[in-house]
Amino acid sequence: MSTAFLERTPDRSITNGLDAAERASRDEILALQRERLAWTLRHAYENVPHYRAAFDAAGVKPEDFKELSDLRHFPFTVKTDLRDNYPFGLFAVPREKIARLHGSSGTTGKPVVVGYTQNDIDMWADVVARSLRAAGVRPGMTVHNAYGYGLFTGGLGAHYGAERLGCTVVPISGGMTERQVQLIQDFRPDAIMVTPSYMFTLLDGFIKAGIDPRETSLRFGIFGAEPWSNAMRLEIEKSFGLDATDIYGLSEVIGPGVAQECVETKDGLHIWEDHFYPEVIDPYTGEVLPDGEKGELVFTSLTKEAFPIIRYRTRDLTRLLAGTARPGMRRMEKVTGRSDDMIILRGVNVFPTQIEELLLATPWCTGHYQLELTRSGRMDDLTVHAEVRGEMFDGLDVDRAAQDLIRRIKANLGVTTYAVLHEPGGVERSATGKAKRVVDRRPKDR
Ligand code: DLL
Repeated sequence: MSTAFLERTPDRSITNGLDAAERASRDEILALQRERLAWTLRHAYENVPHYRAAFDAAGVKPEDFKELSDLRHFPFTVKTDLRDNYPFGLFAVPREKIARLHGSSGTTGKPVVVGYTQNDIDMWADVVARSLRAAGVRPGMTVHNAYGYGLFTGGLGAHYGAERLGCTVVPISGGMTERQVQLIQDFRPDAIMVTPSYMFTLLDGFIKAGIDPRETSLRFGIFGAEPWSNAMRLEIEKSFGLDATDIYGLSEVIGPGVAQECVETKDGLHIWEDHFYPEVIDPYTGEVLPDGEKGELVFTSLTKEAFPIIRYRTRDLTRLLAGTARPGMRRMEKVTGRSDDMIILRGVNVFPTQIEELLLATPWCTGHYQLELTRSGRMDDLTVHAEVRGEMFDGLDVDRAAQDLIRRIKANLGVTTYAVLHEPGGVERSATGKAKRVVDRRPKDR
């Protein structure tokens, strides 16, 4: 059994605000990736029966990997592979070496289970600490962590990273909005980590409590776990007077901290390529696309011991771009949609974030919205449910505002929808975490 990863003591020295990997040149990163990918492919093949069978069926062996471009010959891993190997079938180390389990609930059936060795947890803390630093957070600051604690990777992932950076962490988790508002007043955190949709719920909480959200101590917000538009970023930044950056990750790859936007550029997320190898593929043919072309994001872990993951198809749609603030590592464009969330309305593809941008361009919308799909006869119908700001509700001509929204959606996205405006609090909230943007009420026997 090939066991632990080759390099056990990572270089954590910080120079000019950057750690060793962030300072590395593109060529150094590429060389590191070649070495680490070779190790990962061997580690997975030798220790996980699923990978051995999948590589054999595809006619590839770890030794066939010589150059980074050879990775395309190895098979993809998809969510059903994780479900089929529930709970521990994809672990590459004995169960006693697993320091922690996490999982994602999923909407149906068994959850997806992932495992971490102590080295994996250390690496994860390092990449989240690096992400926080890129977002503007510094040692000694206080971080209000409202990502959910539990099996979800958000809470503990963010927590360990903030501690690793040297911050004071407030492990508030999700929910109990009034209490969160109170504690932000009392503890005066510098930074907040939370889903963007719950940040809007907190905004309501501040307004309800009669507190100007711009007067809080918050200076940095690190938002992720769900798609959100640049319009939403501007709205959050304006409402709270803070710098908002995007953090991306998924349980199957590690959790939060796979990629992070740098506060100085806010131009997409740098992928921490010393630990995670990205590819973008055509979702229909599986072909690897050149950088710059949009497709489905695929990840291979480079250093994970307990749960190496090979070419995992994320279903997230984006494109890869050259690094800017960290020139050695590539960026991914903000993920504005998952292939699963794409609505096809009479042949036109629509993502919830596209409607979100139009909603936030109105003077009246709070940012709370939900899209409802129904069917009349053979036709699918889309109804946009959106909430009106409290201070505007009484004076607003609701019918006119709805008609205007429908017109804008038609003009910009080419689809005809319905729109229903609700009073404040009228649209379902995400209690702790990810907003449910699409509610599908079409008959199941489609
Ligand atoms: O959501 C991990 C995470 C926690 C990321 C906290 C950031 C902050 P999962 O529950 O496994 O893990 O869900 C992963 O969420 O494939 C994307 O579809 C979506 N997602 C995560 N971050 C972003 C983001 C966590 N910044 C799935 N933008 C992913 C858009 C995101 N979508």
